[in-house]
Amino acid sequence: MNEIIVFPFLLTAAFLCIPCSGDQFTAASRADRFISLFSVVRFKNSMCSGPSGLSGTCYTYKSCVKNGGTSSGSCADGFGTCCVTQLGCGARTANNCTYIESPNYPDYFNEARTCVETISLNPDTCQVRLDVTEVNLVGPDIKGDCNNDVLKFSQDIKWTQVCGITENTHFYLDVDPTVSSTLDFTFTTDGTSYSRRWRIKVSQICCDQLSMAPMGCGQYFTSTTGTIKGWNSQGKPDYYLSGQNYAICLRQELNTCSVM
Ligand SMILES: *[C@@H]1O[C@H](CO)[C@@H](O)[C@H](O)[C@H]1NC(C)=O
Repeated sequence: MNEIIVFPFLLTAAFLCIPCSGDQFTAASRADRFISLFSVVRFKNSMCSGPSGLSGTCYTYKSCVKNGGTSSGSCADGFGTCCVTQLGCGARTANNCTYIESPNYPDYFNEARTCVETISLNPDTCQVRLDVTEVNLVGPDIKGDCNNDVLKFSQDIKWTQVCGITENTHFYLDVDPTVSSTLDFTFTTDGTSYSRRWRIKVSQICCDQLSMAPMGCGQYFTSTTGTIKGWNSQGKPDYYLSGQNYAICLRQELNTCSVM
């Protein structure tokens, strides 16, 4: 996705541009006699870091705020703002790199409620990457069923239910914006007395992108070392959840030929 702003006079800077759709464009002067002094600037909505240490996406100030983000510093040589989006219950956004959070995160909460957080998908999105800072919900029973708290996704069938404690790992959901243009995260908590909270960074991965995980891979590791942690891997106890059907994939790295 690119964003366009109209800016007086010609620009020399060329912005890095590798958009989903593949249309590449940096700066062009308009010959139109009414706006002859203006250039159209297009910059890549790339990832940036806000001062809080959270990631954001470079958008124009206007579209950042319109989509529920908070402007935190500048990017794209000052044409954009690093837009950090933290979504709460009942909220929806199209902003890439959005944090899905529990009410007043990092505070814990202890009550029964249903919390739906919605991502509006870009038409070019094929996968959604979840970088889980933490999901801390009441754990499953010994059979792995989430009878108390549960997180469900409105697209993909790799995980029918999620609960328990998961920290510092990632997952990929396959999505199809032509079937549904939104991805809902529905957290349902029950009356069990428990301190819950969650934060998940949600990135929309374009269909033509090298960073896409191979189909069916719910986790995709791309470094020579790492730790594989699934849902509820930090749970106490860390029962394996029922209703999971996915592959954990490891990319073969340069000059490597085995996994130890
Ligand atoms: C969302 O951000 C990621 C990470 O920067 C990027 O790879 C991806 O292309 C972006 N998606 C869209 C739809 O722009």
